[in-house]
Amino acid sequence: MAAVPSTSETRRIARSGNRDADIDGEGGGHTLGRRTGPWYSSGMDSLPTTYDLPGTAEAGEAHGLAPDLSRKEAGAYFTPDAVAATLVRWAVRDRDDRLLDPSCGDGSFVAVHARSVGVERDAASAGLARARAPAGEIHVADFFAWAERTSERFHCAAGNPPFIRYQRFSGDTRERALKACRALGAEFSGLASSWAPFLVATAGLLRPGGRMAFVVPAEIGHAPYAAPLLEFAVSSFAIVHLVAIREKLFPDLSEDCWLLYAEGYGERTNEIRLTVLDRFAPSEEPPHTFERIDVNDWRGAWRRRLRPFLMTPAAREAYRRVADADGSLRLGEIASVGIGYVSGANGFFHLRPSQARHLGIPDALLHPTVRNGRALTGAVLSRADVDRWLEEDLPVLLLRLARTEALPPAVVAYLDGEAGREARTAYKCRVRSPWYVVPDVQVPDYLLSYMSGRRPNLVRNDARCTATNSVHCVRLRRPDLHSRLEAWGSPFVDLSCEIEGHPLGGGLLKLEPREATQVILNAPGRERPGEEDMFREAVATMRRWRHRVD
Ligand SMILES: C[S@@+](CC[C@H](N)C(=O)[O-])C[C@H]1O[C@@H](n2cnc3c(N)ncnc32)[C@H](O)[C@@H]1O
Repeated sequence: MAAVPSTSETRRIARSGNRDADIDGEGGGHTLGRRTGPWYSSGMDSLPTTYDLPGTAEAGEAHGLAPDLSRKEAGAYFTPDAVAATLVRWAVRDRDDRLLDPSCGDGSFVAVHARSVGVERDAASAGLARARAPAGEIHVADFFAWAERTSERFHCAAGNPPFIRYQRFSGDTRERALKACRALGAEFSGLASSWAPFLVATAGLLRPGGRMAFVVPAEIGHAPYAAPLLEFAVSSFAIVHLVAIREKLFPDLSEDCWLLYAEGYGERTNEIRLTVLDRFAPSEEPPHTFERIDVNDWRGAWRRRLRPFLMTPAAREAYRRVADADGSLRLGEIASVGIGYVSGANGFFHLRPSQARHLGIPDALLHPTVRNGRALTGAVLSRADVDRWLEEDLPVLLLRLARTEALPPAVVAYLDGEAGREARTAYKCRVRSPWYVVPDVQVPDYLLSYMSGRRPNLVRNDARCTATNSVHCVRLRRPDLHSRLEAWGSPFVDLSCEIEGHPLGGGLLKLEPREATQVILNAPGRERPGEEDMFREAVATMRRWRHRVD
């Protein structure tokens, strides 16, 4: 192994171009501010822009790179040294092995092994990597462009790929990435975050029998786009081992991270190994205790999600038995679930009662609305709740205008007033005609919160409110199906919400409409003695994994 320059030392050089500068100093052209933790866990919003490493600025310009991409845009969250060392030490079997890090950042991984090749799009970060890994080979390039050119095949790879969401992972890089993956048999949808194609394209540069070890976002346990990656992994490696880690590897990132180890490139497997850990501990090898997940089970019963495997096998077995029992139904079988309306200018379209009176807007054109999940507290939303909102003069009256209707003078005056002239310039208003008719206003049978602390609230809409897209609108397929929803809030349904939804960060559970339709409503009386408690315990486990503290 190559000698690793101390992290703080290298990072000091990087910031100032001067070995004597202090990490907490505020000299130089870029104000770093004072921090107490390691710098990868600092609250810094963007990478420093005033590096003074030889050749760095020119190299950046030569590659046409923006010098000051924000950390988020660049997916630039650098890995703690202990994590990088753990992954590299396992991946490298022989001192002559050539190791690839496709997005080497400031060099945490390439610094651990002398015969390393790092690729990094950001010239400043690549400069840091060169300083930390003088024996390594660092290329300033878009990894996917570089991968097309290189003829080298590697013994192993390790790293922490950028987590750039699909909205920002665009242009040539994305095109190249998806093309490379397609050539390797992995087909990603337009919603794939960058890290998944990074892993596939990296695997494509391994020699037969090669290994790779990567930090991956915990989304690998539930995101639909993680499925093609895992399918690729099990059909390309002899062993695929995931280590789920509950405590954050990056205290600063809302994203939880897991570790992926894969070895025996060129072979295939029918199982995914999963180890579930509370916290990361440095090690030479992946943990020796793991569960073997049958790939067919993952594909079938668990709809290609690994998150259910965070609970105990006994809880999973009981869950499946109740889920498969006669009379258990998915929410989507009895109801449609969709988003509420998008007004485009909430401040304009949502009026307070006092404001509506002052403007003289007729009651018939105002519809009480649920603006967010906080309004969904009890099991029923009643007329008394709405009366209370009105007494409190809350802005809960949607100005509901129809395309065909003649507008009363008071409404015309409001639309043409200052607020109306501004509202019509909002994007959603500009792209519809007429701009003042809010589309998709509906009165659902139930309202469902979709970002929830403890559990998603399902509330019967006795008040006949409409709702914005901050909550979901649930409409029964037949009126006699109301009773099926009485199971909502049972330990089994709570668990089903945890399994079908996904963590959002900050302890929240998000339930997209597509996920909500998959929630299972158990037929009453199917649990065996003790199973309710088991489900309660499993719910508590899943909540701990999304950092919910009750
Ligand atoms: C999460 S950081 C990881 C850096 C380093 N491997 C570590 O863990 O400390 C991801 C890095 O990928 C780089 N990156 C983003 N897109 C890239 C691309 N298309 N090609 C090469 N590097 C890229 C970012 O600049 C960033 O430094």
